Amino acid sequence: GAGPLTVAIDGPAAAGKGTLARAVAARLGLAYLDTGLLYRATGLAVRRAGGSPDDPAATEQAARALSPDDLNDPALRGEAAGDAASRVAAIPAVRAALLEFQRAFAAQPPDGARGAVLDGRDIGSVVCPEAPVKLFVTARVETRARRRFLELRERGTEVIESRILRDMEERDARDRSRSVAPLVPVADAVVLDTSDLDRDGALSAALALTGARVWAWHHACARAD
Ligand code: CDP
Ligand code: CDP
Repeated sequence: GAGPLTVAIDGPAAAGKGTLARAVAARLGLAYLDTGLLYRATGLAVRRAGGSPDDPAATEQAARALSPDDLNDPALRGEAAGDAASRVAAIPAVRAALLEFQRAFAAQPPDGARGAVLDGRDIGSVVCPEAPVKLFVTARVETRARRRFLELRERGTEVIESRILRDMEERDARDRSRSVAPLVPVADAVVLDTSDLDRDGALSAALALTGARVWAWHHACARAD
């Protein structure tokens, strides 16, 4: 019969993936996993231990030692963690170490949820290639840098917008060009550009674009029951 419903959301930094993923999860009654936190926590752990986020052995060890509690650290939200994350994320052994946790979350969502929304860079391509609903969320890089700038400033972090833009362009380039699990929309993903959409607009557009696929999953479930 039909398994749990998986919604895969991928895209570049500050495209609005997390905001949309939370809203979709709430609307459809699904659990939510921000997979970027796994890479951020790995990068931060290596840096705190005095290691380099480009060192394959140290980063793989940090990825294997992660515990769910590590995902609650407020420092994970900072741009330093984002930078370290995109470095450890280019190391194949790190990606392999984090894969099982992500797949288990999708296959057995916590709290008895009937499915899960996962957001990241490679959910539709690598983690959950069989997901019936895939969204590739994107926005102009200037818009994304502006959003991240406002977000950080609101949290009281001193930042320079032009620097955020430059760092974001660097991180995007690293994510798109790496040999393992590069950031690209898969053929069966629905592309959603949120440049001119607010949160509600993005949610409405996403539901409109994927409604038929969610309905087909429900229908398959009803037949399997
Ligand atoms: O919030 P933002 O989009 O800026 O970053 P994030 O989703 O927390 O991801 C941080 C970094 O982790 C990204 O730049 C990617 O290099 C990496 N990542 C990944 O490679 N694969 C994922 N599924 C999620 C994140
Ligand atoms: O998860 P990702 O890094 O892709 O982005 P996010 O954390 O969901 O959104 C980054 C910032 O953009 C947040 O401050 C959101 O409130 C804001 N945002 C927005 O202004 N318009 C949207 N349609 C979506 C998000």
